[in-house]
Amino acid sequence: MSEDQNQAVTTPTLRPRRLRRTPALRRMVAETSLEARQLVLPLFVREGLDEPRPISSMPGVVQHSRDSLRRAVAEAAELGLGGVMLFGIPLEKDAVGSGGIDPAGVLNLAITDVVAEVGDQLTVMSDLCLDEFTDHGHCGLLTPDGEVDNDKTLAAYAQMALAQAEAGVDMVGPSGMMDGQVRVIREALDAAEHSGVSILAYSAKYASAFFGPFREAVDSSLEGDRRTYQQDPANGAEGVREALLDVAEGADIVMVKPALAYLDVVRRVRDAVDVPVAAYNISGEYAMVEAAAANGWIDREAAILETLTSIRRAGADVVLTYWAAEAARLLAR
Ligand code: PBG
Repeated sequence: MSEDQNQAVTTPTLRPRRLRRTPALRRMVAETSLEARQLVLPLFVREGLDEPRPISSMPGVVQHSRDSLRRAVAEAAELGLGGVMLFGIPLEKDAVGSGGIDPAGVLNLAITDVVAEVGDQLTVMSDLCLDEFTDHGHCGLLTPDGEVDNDKTLAAYAQMALAQAEAGVDMVGPSGMMDGQVRVIREALDAAEHSGVSILAYSAKYASAFFGPFREAVDSSLEGDRRTYQQDPANGAEGVREALLDVAEGADIVMVKPALAYLDVVRRVRDAVDVPVAAYNISGEYAMVEAAAANGWIDREAAILETLTSIRRAGADVVLTYWAAEAARLLAR
């Protein structure tokens, strides 16, 4: 190209690039913030461990012992995270998930430990679901012919909510996708003078292949799938409906899960409800980035921050992520 031809190119008068010129400009006009207080760290505690045990499909994530869990939550508080979400893995599982209701069950003991350690510094949340505690791995109780029995399961959830509230939890996270679960849990808590315990409802939860690594994380014994209770990935409006129902039943926060393949649902739910919206950046989303980074295929830290920012941009006020502690450290740099 000759010099003349170059000058013949039209000069735009509208130049969005001006606001991208320096780091200071970019920081000033950034539409979306990412802060430690918006992040919740999911943590696994396994009964009978003396030291943490790695989860191979989630490099960097472990099943904690009760002691190592205390250290992890102390660090989470130090970093200014919004909260922690606790999952328990019992030694013994049975058909009705007794370990979840037993006050001496691993999750309920862990709640008490964590509240004693950091209860005044961050929000202590617990998974309220039977799948970690059942030998069949389903989120509810089964009928004699092996179907998940919605209404029988509700009674078990109510008992589990009470056990978690007695252990001192701030917020319960019903994740089993049974119809009416939020109402039953709210009523049970209120009737037992636990009206201060709040509910983070897993409202729009999809039957997702991206839960794969979590199944290893909780030693899941599930065979088959959860498609009769978790949502069909094809459905967006239904996710909004589930969130609206949960708000009507008393949910304090509604959640969309997984996050990345469902960012449109996060946006639709954010626009439809007037309570905070959370999104769960789940195990498979974590594993994909970790695996690609381990192969040198992507810039790990940049991918983490971009992932979390995209979930916030879609409309999530709160993000549950296995990178919560690391992201807080990156953001503080
Ligand atoms: C159910 C539950 C699951 C997850 C959180 N709560 C698993 C499932 O529904 O199959 C998945 C979390 C993740 O994949 O990171 N108790």
